[in-house]
Amino acid sequence: MTVTKEPAGYTGIQILLHWTIAALIVLQLLIGEDIKPAYRAFSRGTEPSASDIFNANVHVYVGLAVLVLAIWRIAIRLRHGVPAAPPEESILQKRIAAAAHFLLYILIFGMPITGALAWYFGFRSMGEIHELAKPVIIIVVGLHAAAALWQHFFGKTDVLVRMLRPAGRRVP
Ligand code: HEM
Ligand code: HEM
Repeated sequence: MTVTKEPAGYTGIQILLHWTIAALIVLQLLIGEDIKPAYRAFSRGTEPSASDIFNANVHVYVGLAVLVLAIWRIAIRLRHGVPAAPPEESILQKRIAAAAHFLLYILIFGMPITGALAWYFGFRSMGEIHELAKPVIIIVVGLHAAAALWQHFFGKTDVLVRMLRPAGRRVP
């Protein structure tokens, strides 16, 4: 089977995974604090309340879902590839975009892994790294989203459109 490394665009499933993971990460940023009462109680050896356990479980299972989807996503990326950067972009822009995407991948794998090491194995240092990553995600995702919107409205490239519409379904 031929593996295309630079296809014309993203597939429907790549697009679905991008936006699903993005939505789940935003949710995790919003509800992240809710796991802390249960985590603190377990760390102190006391019994958390039922609602604290429920809140913690939501955070844990949404986070683990991100990890599963990220593994699926990287597997598709390796098999199908991703479209080349638009020719209108300068070499510097291409390098910045590639570095940002690499960092985003580190975060979508790193967050569930550090969280799981803190939650299941009690590694406090991993919990601290997990917490410190919160502002990093906010900044990187903010810049990434701003860059995508800037490209669309001012750079006049198709990067945003190709992350909304699968390849081969382009309206002329
Ligand atoms: C996409 C994945 C994840 C994101 C974006 C995320 C995000 C967050 C955020 C924003 C906080 C609160 C940080 C703060 O208030 O400073 C937090 C805390 C925490 N999360 Fe996650 N999380 C994710 C996955 C997970 C998973 C899968 C687990 C466990 C299996 C987990 C366990 C924890 C724990 C134990 C804390 C408390 C850490 C502490 O107080 O030291 N997280 N998370
Ligand atoms: C937590 C949120 C997000 C994460 C983790 C994330 C992650 C990523 C990653 C890793 C890529 C590279 C895809 C690849 O080449 O394999 C990507 C591409 C892209 N993202 Fe995001 N993203 C997020 C939110 C957003 C938002 C809010 C927007 C738009 C407002 C956006 C727009 C795009 C676009 C347009 C591309 C395609 C870039 C291209 O084809 O060169 N992303 N995203």
